[in-house]
Amino acid sequence: MAPETGAPSDAPQRLAVMWSGGSGIAYGLRLVEILLQSGREVHVSATDGALRVLRHEAGLPVDPQQPDLAALFPAELRANLRVHALAAVEAAPSSGSAGIGAVVVCPCSMGTLARIAHGFSSNLVERAADVAIKEGRRLVVVPRETPLSPIHLQNMLDLARLGVVVLPAMPGFYHRPQTVADVVDFVVGKILDRLGIEHPIVRRWQTPKPTPKTPYDEDEER
Ligand SMILES: Cc1cc2nc3c(=O)[nH]c(=O)nc-3n(C[C@H](O)[C@H](O)[C@H](O)COP(=O)(O)O)c2cc1C
Repeated sequence: MAPETGAPSDAPQRLAVMWSGGSGIAYGLRLVEILLQSGREVHVSATDGALRVLRHEAGLPVDPQQPDLAALFPAELRANLRVHALAAVEAAPSSGSAGIGAVVVCPCSMGTLARIAHGFSSNLVERAADVAIKEGRRLVVVPRETPLSPIHLQNMLDLARLGVVVLPAMPGFYHRPQTVADVVDFVVGKILDRLGIEHPIVRRWQTPKPTPKTPYDEDEER
């Protein structure tokens, strides 16, 4: 039986994954890859900040003037990938009638988070998030910053109170990751759970077996 994710069963088939300039572009890349592998239609756009992070963190040769984001994915996955220019506010994710069931901003910079919280809609990334909020659709933002200032915390609280899922890129270590890819998958698995999308990428926690008694436990019992 498939594990319960606690998420609604009406998993979206068409999603927008928006990349902004927070650290952790690996999360955004992996999320799009998994969604495409699942056969879903994925709309992608990236801020200039995201393109900078792509160059610094992933070493990927993305031309800031003409970024070829589709080339980041294997050819066999590209059929359901729709890449949009950041300025293309006429693209599908800008419209509530385009049938996009969920929007994920991953990673979400503090700048983009602030602009979403205040309804700026000044580019396709922010507009897609704004549309998800106004339509009452799932919006997940994946911020990454530390430490967090009161401004950051207030913006996150404002979004959470609107029903936005604020899912910080905070990997857990209880599944004993062996590689960076395992750490990335922990966060991506949490995002997929919130979208109600089944996935095999993280081993689910189970009740631990009782551990043998230690000399310390015996002392305590005396
Ligand atoms: C390598 C790199 C890492 C960054 N990491 C973060 C980060 O973790 N969180 C954050 O909020 N901003 C981070 N920034 C700064 C944002 O990219 C910057 O504030 C940018 O203006 C955000 O623009 P955007 O919201 O349009 O993407 C980083 C920038 C670079 C180049």
